[in-house]
Amino acid sequence: MKIAFFDAKPYDLPAFKRQGELKNIDFRFFDTRLTADTASLAEGCEGVCIFVNDCADAEVINRLHSLGVKILALRCAGYNNVDLKSCYGKIHAAHVPAYSPYAVAEHAMAMLLTSIRRIHRAYIRTKDFNFSLNGLTGFDLHGKTAGVIGTGKIGRVFTDICRGFGMRVIAYDKFPAEGSGIEYVPLERLFAESDIISLHCPLTAETYHMIGRDTIDSLKTGAVIINTSRGALIDAEALLEGIKQRKVGAACLDVYEEESDIFFQDFSGHIMSDDTLARLISMPNVIVTSHQAFLTNEALENIAETTADNIIALSQNGFCENELCYRCGQVEHCKNRRERCF
Ligand code: NAI
Repeated sequence: MKIAFFDAKPYDLPAFKRQGELKNIDFRFFDTRLTADTASLAEGCEGVCIFVNDCADAEVINRLHSLGVKILALRCAGYNNVDLKSCYGKIHAAHVPAYSPYAVAEHAMAMLLTSIRRIHRAYIRTKDFNFSLNGLTGFDLHGKTAGVIGTGKIGRVFTDICRGFGMRVIAYDKFPAEGSGIEYVPLERLFAESDIISLHCPLTAETYHMIGRDTIDSLKTGAVIINTSRGALIDAEALLEGIKQRKVGAACLDVYEEESDIFFQDFSGHIMSDDTLARLISMPNVIVTSHQAFLTNEALENIAETTADNIIALSQNGFCENELCYRCGQVEHCKNRRERCF
């Protein structure tokens, strides 16, 4: 079985090559992203395998369908880049719902600690034999309030980590987990009471720009915002304004609204064309990593294994437990599916 693997990076290859040999899947690795212009690379392939910044909109889906592609295997959890309604009746799409919530939650905490203890600045100073402590004063996490938005797999691990630091955790989720022992509060209260806010909900029409001008106005002065979820949960211009006005104490961003043309690529030595990102990065209290939170050995192995299993199941049966729901286009209503959706 041939699968066109788009946006392939060196760190993807070992685990996927292993799974390919093990499960008899011929992955064709392309370092280009999937777009309407590159879709033709999938000619002769039964499926395509894509990541977060590949484009699978209606036009791309129709092109893939006309080439005979039957499987769209996402090697990630989020699927906001896929037009699922267009997939219906044409291409079966599946994702990797969980590969290591620890990888992402631990990265969120790593960014938070780096930021508030100024490790990023201290590292550069001592490299230059500058041992001054001026400007490196941080604050204790112990006793502070963390507001967690989205208490799914990653949000819960982050909650546990925060509790381990002696923090109070309050949370908001559209679908609160009954009996989980999590203290749920309305979103407005979370914004007003949290010293640290960490986003762990999916990007949907409803959550788009959930951190915007109004929300930033309602935050505690000095609040730290962490986003390891999806960039467009935050209005980046409003965030920049909040930082300039000293309302936002720090921002830890593993994702960025306009990341698709920037992240995963080396632009060192180039002029950064995205002024908002350049300005954010220039701030001493902003840390940006380029969608790196998932990047651990454990997660990469799990991603490759589940993606390969999804491909085999979709090819053999026309359905799999990680297939996405084409009707609602948002959540995985197809869990425990035992028959083909189409
Ligand atoms: P999950 O599906 O286990 O949890 C998501 C939670 O968000 C659920 O509890 C759900 O009820 C809640 N939710 C849904 N709509 C909401 C709304 N309107 N307001 C508040 N909460 C809402 O997902 P998981 O695995 O915890 O992942 C969370 C997000 O992390 C994903 O959507 C993905 O975008 C992002 N992610 C980022 C990675 C990275 O490398 N930076 C890697 C993996 C995931």
